[in-house]
Amino acid sequence: MLSLLVPLLLVNTARAYDWHFADSPTQCQNVTVNISGDGGKPPYRILVIPYGSTTVTHEVRVIKDIPFDGNANSLSFKMDWPKSSQFVAVVSDASGFGTGGTSIAGIVQDSDDNSCYDDSQNVKPDFYYSIDPTNSLVQCQTTRIYWDKSTVQGTPQYQGVIPGGDSFAIPAGTVTDESGLGTGFDWTVNVRTGSTFLLVGGDDRGNGTAGSTLYTISGGTQNDDSCINSDSPSSTAGSPAGGAYATSTSGGGSGSGSSDDNSGGTNVGAIVGGVVGGVVGALALGLLVLFFHRRKRGNKHAGEKPVDLLVGDEGDEGPGRSELPQYYEPEPFIVPDPTVASDSGRGSFEGGRPPSQVLSDGSAPMTSASRKGPRRELRPVNIIQHDDAGPSEAPHHEEEPETVELPPAYTSVRK
Ligand SMILES: *[C@@H]1O[C@H](CO)[C@@H](O)[C@H](O)[C@H]1NC(C)=O
Ligand SMILES: *[C@@H]1O[C@H](CO)[C@@H](O)[C@H](O)[C@H]1NC(C)=O
Ligand SMILES: *[C@@H]1O[C@H](CO)[C@@H](O)[C@H](O)[C@H]1NC(C)=O
Repeated sequence: MLSLLVPLLLVNTARAYDWHFADSPTQCQNVTVNISGDGGKPPYRILVIPYGSTTVTHEVRVIKDIPFDGNANSLSFKMDWPKSSQFVAVVSDASGFGTGGTSIAGIVQDSDDNSCYDDSQNVKPDFYYSIDPTNSLVQCQTTRIYWDKSTVQGTPQYQGVIPGGDSFAIPAGTVTDESGLGTGFDWTVNVRTGSTFLLVGGDDRGNGTAGSTLYTISGGTQNDDSCINSDSPSSTAGSPAGGAYATSTSGGGSGSGSSDDNSGGTNVGAIVGGVVGGVVGALALGLLVLFFHRRKRGNKHAGEKPVDLLVGDEGDEGPGRSELPQYYEPEPFIVPDPTVASDSGRGSFEGGRPPSQVLSDGSAPMTSASRKGPRRELRPVNIIQHDDAGPSEAPHHEEEPETVELPPAYTSVRK
């Protein structure tokens, strides 16, 4: 994501019109947005989305969806977000959402005026939405976006926003009611793996009124790219829009603030940068927990031995701890056994034990003899699986649903 902070100098654009900030958005100051080029169809509007965490105690930033006046080519609104807030802006015209392009992540500059926001409580979205599978968007995977219909007004609309790339209205498929999955529709995530992606929700109260959620599009276990073509939304679609503006706290934009009315904050949707940051953090932790969890499972089921892999990934602790208990348990039983051979056998086994061995830990003599045969055979198989599958192992497809359930496991870990 850091790369998003780097201003990109690009040249050509296929957009019919362009837009730019007349100056870098600054805390509690008016900011002007100008349209250039004759290809756009008024009225224009701009969607400004908080990006990343906030530097103040509470989340005070609400998504701004501000229409330009009539056929105006210029709009001024008050940037009422605290300094250092990151934002991504999308300009649209009458022909569709995102037609003017999407900015990269800019940063609100500091000023002496901090009177424009109330840092005493968090803002909240007008309604909440969810996705299934939860927590991640996977390229070409069908994802259900759903909500509680008693909390919305009209039909919710969602937009996909790729900082510095394409933004688009997510096609609202057939809306259905499903037990446990609320009211919603299916969307095939036709966005490339690795793209930074903001899912923005809203309803008749305005675009963005349900807030936004930040994702990095995942390749999943299949890395299915069957839905991707040259028209697919991209993070490298020509030049980022928005002109020159600060992308760091040290400034970088020119300042010529202008004036007009306050934030058209009428359409604001609440979104918490903290939420976004939290989601990202939770996702990272969740993946970590999942990784260990699957590892353990793998050991139990197939005696896979990722010892080497573990060392490489985690260093000493993670894997070692999870496996050691199993080894130690057998040892007490083995202690009575006098055979040196069995000990050496163990050493070789450390890489990975077949499940049968684990189950038969109680009878050391029996297992020692049987281990030798199966051990050698199993090892190669296990190693191959790890290399191929890495974090996502084909043989464990069936276990993926369990992966979805991992977040709860994570919570318990924290406790
Ligand atoms: C933006 O538009 C306003 C109103 O038309 C104009 O006064 C201002 O000079 C423009 N600023 C830039 C940087 O183009
Ligand atoms: C949401 O944005 C689209 C495209 O910019 C616009 O046509 C639509 O009117 C907006 N919806 C609301 C409720 O303002
Ligand atoms: C922003 O615009 C409004 C409306 O024109 C004006 O009253 C206000 O003084 C401006 N604020 C700044 C900081 O320029």
